[in-house]
Amino acid sequence: MADEMRLQKFLALCGCASRRAAENLITDGRVCVNGVPVTTLGTKIDPEADFVTVDQKPVTKPEEKVYIMLNKPAGYVTTAKDNFNRQTVLDLIPDSLGRLYPVGRLDYDTQGLLLLTNDGELTNRLTHPRHQVNKTYLALVAGFPSNEDIEALQKGVMIDGKKTQPAKVIIVGKTENATKLSITIHEGRNRQVRKMCAAIGHATISLTRIAEGPIKLGDLALGSWRHLTEDEVRKLGGTTHADH
Ligand code: URA
Repeated sequence: MADEMRLQKFLALCGCASRRAAENLITDGRVCVNGVPVTTLGTKIDPEADFVTVDQKPVTKPEEKVYIMLNKPAGYVTTAKDNFNRQTVLDLIPDSLGRLYPVGRLDYDTQGLLLLTNDGELTNRLTHPRHQVNKTYLALVAGFPSNEDIEALQKGVMIDGKKTQPAKVIIVGKTENATKLSITIHEGRNRQVRKMCAAIGHATISLTRIAEGPIKLGDLALGSWRHLTEDEVRKLGGTTHADH
């Protein structure tokens, strides 16, 4: 058994009691493992396989929170299931991470930073319209937007009959026939960046999300994923090992 642990430690981890009080529960005969009372301190159990009760009530370990970032390539949907049988972002992460859910969406043809987690509370917080966090995109657009175009994007343009909220827009580079823009928005409307660029008359050639709140994509390779660091989880407001 690779992950066996002492019964009193397991009880403490599950929030039943402090380690010392858990020892008393055991010596008082109130703890059963697989239906059999265990009164010997130091008895080891397998938390994944053994069934533990205190006063006949099952004891379960709180689900460990998992937070990862994926550098989503174009050509994947962010929903768990797709009607057209296209590949989903879940195809890019191993099953061993357990059931994870994307935090918000990226279009099929958009790439870049996508957070995935089993922390439903955090997902709700990050995607709720009221406290949406800043998201920064690099958009390669056809042609050369004028200064007036950039100003219009920053102040707000009409998309789907409603003006967009103020955005931060910076020209970061130019090629022979296209312009690379950094666009930071905090709304999350459907195909928002593409529609904003279309509203100033410039089609989006490619779109990459590079930051979401305090989290940056950095140099993570396209199609790869990594766990968020404890510091990143804390900045997002998630639960780290240290919080248990
Ligand atoms: N804006 C878009 O147009 N597409 C995305 O995927 C995200 C933001």
